[in-house]
Amino acid sequence: MMEIIKVKDYDAMSEKACEFLAERINRLENPVLGLATGSTPEGLYKRLIEKYNNKEVSFKQVKSFNLDEYVGLEKDDPNSYYFFMKDKLFDHVDISLENVRVPNGVAPDLNQECEAHDEAIKAAGGIDVQLLGIGGNGHIGFNEPGTPFTSKTQVVDLEESTIQANSRFFNSIEEVPTQAISMGIDTIMSSKEILLLVSGENKADALNKLINGEVTEELPASVLQNHPNVTIIADEAALSVA
Ligand code: GLP
Repeated sequence: MMEIIKVKDYDAMSEKACEFLAERINRLENPVLGLATGSTPEGLYKRLIEKYNNKEVSFKQVKSFNLDEYVGLEKDDPNSYYFFMKDKLFDHVDISLENVRVPNGVAPDLNQECEAHDEAIKAAGGIDVQLLGIGGNGHIGFNEPGTPFTSKTQVVDLEESTIQANSRFFNSIEEVPTQAISMGIDTIMSSKEILLLVSGENKADALNKLINGEVTEELPASVLQNHPNVTIIADEAALSVA
């Protein structure tokens, strides 16, 4: 089941997503969140911090698991997703850093780290709400086109288009890691509920295929059609083709 909520623009998307997530955090006794990075959820995180400052939400009982991390970047590297999460959310709310897990992109044994991520999610009782963005090529997490739907958390090679897109955060394209650890498609699909945020015209084609196209490993996000509880909050530009 996929519910699509159409909003005017990026700000309205962030606002709606904030209400949606805060409602779950307040309702669930021990909320387990799956968190995402990228430009898309930044506005949502800003608003969650405001809500926390207004005492309308607390992260004391929250556990969180991040979708992905670049291979080779240390936690304190400003381009690592661990750094992003601390900078954009964790450092500004009452979440315990012991309760957050971002895959470790410099683990000595990366495959073992991937297994450990899935094990930790299981031990926490599974993810209640998984937040997702979407890549222009339809990727979710860092699961590029062609990734098997049965995949668990694994080390992945990034597509040239993804490296291009993400190079905007780095000094030069050569600095962009070519590999990442990403939760697998199966890991993502095991979440009880999924919230997908989509903003902007450059995502319109992928979103259209996700909503109206066939379910295919060539468009990783299309797998969401098979999930029982998905909410998509998308702005007018993102829905301009669909
Ligand atoms: C990145 C991330 C994804 C994200 C997507 C879109 O590469 N690994 O988790 O959803 O691409 O990013 P953005 O929100 O910046 O457009």
